[in-house]
Amino acid sequence: MSSTSLSTSIRRVLSAARRRGAAALAALRGAPPSPAAEAAREDIAILDWYSKELPSAANAVGIFPGEWASRLPAPLEDVPAGSAPLFADPRISWCIERLAAGGREGGLSGARVLELGPLEGGHSYMLETAGAASVTAIESNARSYLKCLVAKELLGMTRTSFAFGDFVPYLRGCTDRYDVAVASGVIYHLLDPVSVIADLCAVTDDAIFVWTQYYDDEVIAARSDLHRKFGDRRTANLDGYDYELVEYRYLDALDFAGFCGGSAPTSNWLTRDGLTAAFARHGFADIEVHDDDRDHVHGPAITFLARRSGGVVAGA
Ligand SMILES: C[S@@+](CC[C@H](N)C(=O)[O-])C[C@H]1O[C@@H](n2cnc3c(N)ncnc32)[C@H](O)[C@@H]1O
Repeated sequence: MSSTSLSTSIRRVLSAARRRGAAALAALRGAPPSPAAEAAREDIAILDWYSKELPSAANAVGIFPGEWASRLPAPLEDVPAGSAPLFADPRISWCIERLAAGGREGGLSGARVLELGPLEGGHSYMLETAGAASVTAIESNARSYLKCLVAKELLGMTRTSFAFGDFVPYLRGCTDRYDVAVASGVIYHLLDPVSVIADLCAVTDDAIFVWTQYYDDEVIAARSDLHRKFGDRRTANLDGYDYELVEYRYLDALDFAGFCGGSAPTSNWLTRDGLTAAFARHGFADIEVHDDDRDHVHGPAITFLARRSGGVVAGA
């Protein structure tokens, strides 16, 4: 079966699942079988899920046609996936280089790494290749999680473990410890970013790498394409400290099957000061900024490495 018909089949199965849910609800309420329930039964074409192609990397990648963001690394660079260089990302190269230069003996070598939101496993691959003893990567989007598993299989990653679920409750109840954490592209997708940062700081011993968008009044006010996506601004408080949150709405981005944001229709963005203060208050005040791109296409974006500075750890 071609990639396109598999994609169509996935959509049909999902819409059938939605109709089955509605039919089950109706049955619970005592309603007779509806035309929707009958249609759902007919929609599932199980044979569409089989491949008749020769087994290959392209065939595995093609399970998610048009949904890959990343370009795969050698020897798979010609496999049609995406174009973003997430398996050779200069932001992660900088992080690895700074960890080596900045006092973590051996850089990432031997480190237990926690990665939040791996998407397709590109950063996980770089962290493993740089010598991490283990990479625990937590992904909540089922399609992304399965793409991570495809990448893991195709690239022979052996020290990375992809876990399917939400890192917010994981961090809340976490008894594991990590040397290094990577929170790239995730903080601005959260509803309550400061409490997640507090929980992340509490489980990390040495350093946390961050790439995130942040809110800036001046920049957003001048960008009509971005301004419409922001809603209410409010002050929140954690452990006696105030911080500002600005609502961000995903809007039509939610219509794309390759959507890679958070699990709610909105998130809350922090200001740059609110962001760095949250790390500083939870023991990571030593912040090395690599890049602060106020003109980023999706809004201001900052890249930094926060190192443990001996301050107070939330919950300690
Ligand atoms: C914008 S992508 C960033 C991918 C990659 N880390 C990078 O920097 O290029 C965000 C990823 O985090 C995942 N994600 C968002 N919120 C999450 C959560 N609460 N738990 C687990 N994964 C989450 C999304 O599904 C997506 O794969």
